[in-house]
Amino acid sequence: MKYEKIQAPKGVSEYAPPLSAAFEWVRSSLIAPAKLAGYQLMELPVFEDTALFSRGVGESTDVVSKEMYTFEDRGGRSITLRPEGTAGVMRAVIEKGLDRGQLPVKVWYSGQFFRAERPQAGRYRQFYQVGIEAIGLDDPAIDAEVIAIADQGFKAIGLRNYRLEITSLGDSQSRAAHRVDLLKFIAKLDLDEATSARAAINPLRLFDDKRPEMKEAMQGAPLLLDYLSPESLANFTQVKKYLDQMDIAYEVNPRMVRGLDYYTGTTFEFIHADLGAQSGIGGGGRYDGLMEILGGQSLSGIGFGLGVDRALLAAQAEGAIKEDQFTSDLFIIPLGDNQKSDALFIATQLRAAGIRTEIAFGDRALKGAMKAADKSGSRYVVIIGDSEVASGIVELKRMSDGTTTSVKISELQKALIGAL
Ligand code: HAM
Repeated sequence: MKYEKIQAPKGVSEYAPPLSAAFEWVRSSLIAPAKLAGYQLMELPVFEDTALFSRGVGESTDVVSKEMYTFEDRGGRSITLRPEGTAGVMRAVIEKGLDRGQLPVKVWYSGQFFRAERPQAGRYRQFYQVGIEAIGLDDPAIDAEVIAIADQGFKAIGLRNYRLEITSLGDSQSRAAHRVDLLKFIAKLDLDEATSARAAINPLRLFDDKRPEMKEAMQGAPLLLDYLSPESLANFTQVKKYLDQMDIAYEVNPRMVRGLDYYTGTTFEFIHADLGAQSGIGGGGRYDGLMEILGGQSLSGIGFGLGVDRALLAAQAEGAIKEDQFTSDLFIIPLGDNQKSDALFIATQLRAAGIRTEIAFGDRALKGAMKAADKSGSRYVVIIGDSEVASGIVELKRMSDGTTTSVKISELQKALIGAL
């Protein structure tokens, strides 16, 4: 009986060697600046009560109306695979009472998210994000800090070819004033039923409509940025000033609409120039009413989500990932059974010193072992046979040019640290 092969579901991103090393590096480098800024890990479930997203993310969004993986569990509850991280963080903060302790609550997260989108390069149905949320502080300085942390993450993986767009959605007073005029404007447009329905829930969505005729129709629409209350305007001005002072370049895009309904105040997106249609490598903003909507107290918040898959594609496109970045430093070839224990002993010591060390196990002939060393991309190779053990000296071979140096086994660590 011959079984058919089973394939991965359509549109999932997955990472196997050798690419997985670069993926892991991108993921940890992107979030490292947040850890240095005092954000602490929040590890959350990948499935939640469906109401968390329909209420938190908003019914007018594509994410909720078209893209959720929703199913009934065995107990008849409606469950959804998380399409994003902010609502889950809020739910957990409320449930655990973190909002009653020291503010702001500053957390980071990392993991898989799920959206039933049409798969294409850089757009997946299961994708990876790292993110942060800072909850319970109204201060434009933290808006600027959150943006700076994301920017540092992208810089840490060597990206240069991206830009930052920001805008402000203002406070509820600003949005209410703008909404009146925007609805008046929209009433004059000839909209299909689905678009009217979306506009009725959140008229800002129409700015996000990708159809050329809608883009054209929205050209003269009133912009929220022109309706900011004095307080919101002062806030936004202050955020920009902090960014200027940190030398973080940005463009104000008054037509930017984020894909989730909870945003208020400062919002932002990072866009990479080399990625084609799926160019958003990260985004975020304030969500001052979210906690209340989810049954908690009225605390503000701001955060971001960075797309790890897209950041990796961007780093590859910019040539920011070196081929030998993730390979071993040293490859040890023991010539016989007797030398395997020596190799194990040496490798353990070197690894404790942070030197990436592999051993050629299996009873391959020297030629086969050298081939394996070559394939591994290791920078250095040593062969350990009877004579090396007897003399306590090995030949340390540099693979890039084949040069060898005699080194005492006891001084291998020092020699490698000097050479690497
Ligand atoms: P978002 O803009 O929906 O925001 O997603 C953040 C990032 O995730 C995007 O910029 C993109 O890089 C990546 N991403 C989104 N969808 C996909 C997909 N289908 N395939 C590959 N990558 C994707 C949020 O999710 C908010 N929770 C961010 C946030 C946190 N706002 C405040 N706090």
